Amino acid sequence: MPIVNMKDMLQHAYHHGYAIGAFDLVSLDFLEGIVLAAERARAPVILSLAESHFEYFDFETIMPAVEAAAKRATIPVAIHLDHGATLDSARRAINLGCNGVMVDASQLPLPDNIEATRKIVEMAKGCGVPVEGELGYVPGVEGEDAERHPGEISYTTPAEARAYVERTGVDFLAVSIGTVHGRMKGKPKLDFPRLKQINETLNIPLVIHGGTGLSDDQFRRLISKGVAKINYYTALSDAAATQIRENSRTETSSGYTGLVKDVRGAIAAEVERCMHLWGAAGRAAEVLAQCQPWLPVEHLIIYNVEGLDRAAAEKMMAKGREVLSAIPGVRAVFTGEAVQEDARYRYTWLVRFCHPDVIDSYREHPDHVAFADNLFRPVAGGRISIDYLAVESKQ
Ligand code: 13P
Repeated sequence: MPIVNMKDMLQHAYHHGYAIGAFDLVSLDFLEGIVLAAERARAPVILSLAESHFEYFDFETIMPAVEAAAKRATIPVAIHLDHGATLDSARRAINLGCNGVMVDASQLPLPDNIEATRKIVEMAKGCGVPVEGELGYVPGVEGEDAERHPGEISYTTPAEARAYVERTGVDFLAVSIGTVHGRMKGKPKLDFPRLKQINETLNIPLVIHGGTGLSDDQFRRLISKGVAKINYYTALSDAAATQIRENSRTETSSGYTGLVKDVRGAIAAEVERCMHLWGAAGRAAEVLAQCQPWLPVEHLIIYNVEGLDRAAAEKMMAKGREVLSAIPGVRAVFTGEAVQEDARYRYTWLVRFCHPDVIDSYREHPDHVAFADNLFRPVAGGRISIDYLAVESKQ
């Protein structure tokens, strides 16, 4: 249950002058270390999955673990897609359980960035999912030395930021004011006056990418000028690697489990340090009290089939499972046939939506309209259809 609406969460941080960490995870050690730290610090947390890291894990396989950890947590959690490249990446992430998505079209010219982002915002809004956009360019690659990917920092300007936010409808903006992804070369110089102006122009939660390597004082100044979300990865990756190097010296005859021993704890220590520094520690209770829980909706239909035999009915349902599960905001599609021969309604659909807003966007989606009008409604005689806000038991 402690998955909460990410927009509410970041608005809370923005209005109360602290920042929530969005920690990129690449394995179960990262996932468990981050959640452990958040529990210890009583801090809200964003579990972040970067598309550029999908070569290290299978997104579809790890998401049920991320969701299970989030539901079991006693602190508020959001699950976020970091640097999603396309409309389809954002849709897939939402359907797999992300309740926040980032669109990174920042390498495109402004009009193209606006157009790509606007389309994703339109789709995500129909799912109740907030969107983070990026304007300006933060160079570098998470986990690597910045000098290996120098790129050119392109700074966000307040005027462009205003046009971008107005025309795309993003909920949060990642700004480029001097940070880089990955390990810094030298001491980063941040353009605080620029950040202040952007914040005064936009009045929405701002996001900093490339959190690794900034000083305590820089973090405090960023947060005082509207930064409510800080993306952080390389320092966690380095803490994990240091622990593994240490293990390889002491655990000379160990296998894999010996080499990764205490990696979780090393990650948790760094995450906890950040949560205290960024002011998120101790905020869990008020965030849980003030933010909407993220609850799915079960769209239930029970019905009888007229004019089709069982095989044809199964074929119709198989087509529905395939088509409907790809609609934005659909978490799962179940079909069923009654076990009892004399059941009043022989068949069922159980379609899980990620958020109540999907009730309308699903009904109007062209793939749903085509399936319902051509294959389902003509054969589904008597039927009952109800949407339920669903609360699950803890396992
Ligand atoms: P660092 O790896 O520099 O901490 O940046 C992480 C990040 O911005 C992920 O989007």
